[in-house]
Amino acid sequence: MCGIVGILGREAIAFDLVEGLKRLEYRGYDSAGVAVLEGGEITRVRAEGKLKNLEAKLREAPLSGRAGIGHTRWATHGKPTENNAHPHATERLAVVHNGIIENFRELREELQAEGRVFASETDTEVVAHLVTALMDKQMSAEEAVAAALPRLHGAFALGFVFRGEDNLLIGARRGAPLAVGHGDGEMYLGSDALALAPFTDTITYLEDGDWVVLNRASARYFNEKNQPVKRKAQKTQAGAFLVDKGNHRHFMAKEIHEQPEVIGRTLAHYIDMGTGEVRLPFGLPFDWAKVGRLSISACGTAYLAGQIGKYWFERLARLPVEIDIASEFRYREAPMTPGDVMLVISQSGETADTLAALRYAKDQKQHVMSVVNVPTSTIARESHVVAGTLAGPEIGVASTKAFTCQLTVLACLAIAAGRARGVLSGRREKELVTQLIAIPGLVAEALKHEAPIEALARELSKATDVLYLGRGTSFPLAMEGALKLKEISYIHAEGYAAGELKHGPIALIDETMPVIVMAPRDPWFEKTVSNVQEVAARGGAIVLIGPEGVGREVAVDTLAEIAMPEMAPDFSAFVYAIPAQLIAYHTAVVMGKDVDQPRNLAKSVTVE
Ligand code: G6P
Repeated sequence: MCGIVGILGREAIAFDLVEGLKRLEYRGYDSAGVAVLEGGEITRVRAEGKLKNLEAKLREAPLSGRAGIGHTRWATHGKPTENNAHPHATERLAVVHNGIIENFRELREELQAEGRVFASETDTEVVAHLVTALMDKQMSAEEAVAAALPRLHGAFALGFVFRGEDNLLIGARRGAPLAVGHGDGEMYLGSDALALAPFTDTITYLEDGDWVVLNRASARYFNEKNQPVKRKAQKTQAGAFLVDKGNHRHFMAKEIHEQPEVIGRTLAHYIDMGTGEVRLPFGLPFDWAKVGRLSISACGTAYLAGQIGKYWFERLARLPVEIDIASEFRYREAPMTPGDVMLVISQSGETADTLAALRYAKDQKQHVMSVVNVPTSTIARESHVVAGTLAGPEIGVASTKAFTCQLTVLACLAIAAGRARGVLSGRREKELVTQLIAIPGLVAEALKHEAPIEALARELSKATDVLYLGRGTSFPLAMEGALKLKEISYIHAEGYAAGELKHGPIALIDETMPVIVMAPRDPWFEKTVSNVQEVAARGGAIVLIGPEGVGREVAVDTLAEIAMPEMAPDFSAFVYAIPAQLIAYHTAVVMGKDVDQPRNLAKSVTVE
């Protein structure tokens, strides 16, 4: 998404803010800005485009302030203009923000009704006005932030400075990361440790829901219930490495927890948050309305993302989809109608079989579109259209954040196709987009269920076989859950369509066999429940992943229940992917396996 840096320094800090922001350039951005306290007054300098434009402005009119915040913005709500660039300010404060404030429209209306005037199209500005409104009611800066945070929905990180407060910086995180850097008589705030590497290697990572009040000598932390909490500082390696593990034990854990942020960043690339419509950031060499068939090909986790995409393209765009594993597709000699579309999906963009599938499709005169995470990769270069995932570097061999970012792009493409084919009304499109905008927040919710999953992992680590079941998009997700588990814990696992259970795998079920059931509240919920009962009748050890209280509804004995937030059914795959990833991760950790580099596997498979 965007990048945040905040500094309480001893000398002029404007160029230090830019220095920190440069470390965050890899996240992508299209405008930048700083707000610095000059003689107690907030002075903002913002510029469209790259940091050099901001630097040029700062050289023209140097700032001497020692306290300030800086930001690189990837446009979400509103165009990448100077006016929409952060920081956003009122007469009392300035704020920078990563992520999405889901309920910004409602808050904006409320604040406008009070007579507050908005200067930008961003969702961020509601935060500035909301905190200002509370300060106008005689609250201190700290009290106002504490009162404002519970009113904000979504996944985000924030940094504030206040007029007349040269020794105060407030930060808050929910879903998107934020870290505090400790200097010598100086204090820093950054959206990752990398941004702070030029200044300090002593970092405290905020936990989800935390907020922090900083001055030059101390940091006071609060949790989401506004209770004071202690958070430990640690030495980081960020100076030495481009990507570090943050406060996680493994890259995989870090990448799992990055998902609210990277899904949000990817969504922002494909959705006009202001109008609530999908807006593809590239032109298409074909018309969805004239496409007879969409072919999809990929390997591993990317293939399973494609399987989920198939459900969306068929349901939302009524577009026939054929999907195949790339290693099979390349030799299958599939007949293809010239002018149709081939979609290949790949994190690395270098997978040999996927590349071969792409080349075959090109020979068959298909329009080739790729969903890739590495924009300079071979697959990206050889495609006619590249639909990028903005997951950032994925280091863990078992793919997690790349998978949910692939889902993000596929959902947006399916909606775009549905609109172009006249299947989705404008109203339905907005409804679907509203659901997508809520996903980063729901994923952040789902990530809170780590403790019961750790307990479950101890049980699963004793199993030799595990079955995953689901219907609809939860079927490919069940296969992804099983794939993750076998990849890193080496426990044999299978993902099955719940309705197929009775046609074979039910023979395997006894009390030693954990059966993990994905049961989101979707149109097939009742049928999935019946399948759970079939398992229960045969003594299977059931793990139910479903909406809060699902166990009572199903009324069977379970080994564990993992409660997911209530949500509309269309895009449940994003949220239910989280427990599947966490189950695999914690089981492998309990078993002492090499989570980031499992035996025999490679991150990028460039051989057949
Ligand atoms: C390897 C990795 C998997 C990945 C697959 C496809 O097998 O271990 O995690 O899903 O390749 O990789 P790609 O880079 O094409 O998405």
